[in-house]
Amino acid sequence: MRDLVRETQLTSADVVLPLFVVSGEGREEPIGSLPGVFHHSVDQALEFVRPLVALGLRSIILFGLPDQKDEEGSEAWSPEGPVQRACRAFKDEFPQLIVMTDVCLCQYTSHGHCGDLVEGEVVNDTSIQRLALTALSHAIAGADVVAPSDMMDGRIGAIRDTLERANYPNVSILSYAVKYASAFYGPFREAADSAPGKGDRKGYQMDPANRREAMREARLDVQEGADMLMVKPALSYLDIISDLRREFDYPIAAYHVSGEYSMVKAAAQLGWVDERSVTLEILTSIKRAGADIIITYAAGDLCRWLAGE
Ligand code: PBG
Repeated sequence: MRDLVRETQLTSADVVLPLFVVSGEGREEPIGSLPGVFHHSVDQALEFVRPLVALGLRSIILFGLPDQKDEEGSEAWSPEGPVQRACRAFKDEFPQLIVMTDVCLCQYTSHGHCGDLVEGEVVNDTSIQRLALTALSHAIAGADVVAPSDMMDGRIGAIRDTLERANYPNVSILSYAVKYASAFYGPFREAADSAPGKGDRKGYQMDPANRREAMREARLDVQEGADMLMVKPALSYLDIISDLRREFDYPIAAYHVSGEYSMVKAAAQLGWVDERSVTLEILTSIKRAGADIIITYAAGDLCRWLAGE
């Protein structure tokens, strides 16, 4: 009876698995702060994903770690960067898999900010040109969806414009529209080696205390041409997911971020919570709040559990 009247069904088609790709071959290095997550060279990333695709995984999102960083973050748009190489390899082997890419500069800049830094200030308008160039390089490499996570103003419009002009009208934009300046990104910054050298991201990420502002951020991105809207993090922001669901008829994504995932892993390792039940409860709550798409490091686990493994 409970199954018959259940309002929210979680399936493997709901989730997107984040992957961290690096250069070289044969590399699979565990990330200490994110148990079960690795830095993969492209060949190993394919190997990792192969059994999950067989279990029903439908979508991944790629994050790249360059060999070299510079002031501009120029590796971000290199055609031979790990993300661009991974896009080509994944679309080649798994044409049906939806390949998303995170578009940002923070992993690529020596200062670790998501945009251009001039005299200690992030400069919005030159940053968005570089972000658009990065998104285009992902589109050329075969990405189905580009997901800008930088939070600069006007970047969705710039990316949309660049994609149209270069004749990639079918590449979708998943905007990290509502991204809070959150302490839950802690483990990710170790994974992506992307902590800002000086300062923080409060100049461009949102204040966790603000709810109305989320609507304004989302509305701007819709006007500029976003196809899907993301709320990030997820668990402390279920009210925001629910607000966006009510306000917009666009697909809503939620990013169940690194800190949320690692807290469950740590508590489970101590024997304090049951990992599987807690994870399923969390993912169900994110979907119940209104998310159509959940980006989660537990995507592989979910596919295994749903397949009865
Ligand atoms: C890069 C980016 C971040 C995350 C996704 N893209 C870090 C940040 O903004 O500081 C966080 C993801 C996570 O914590 O799992 N801009």
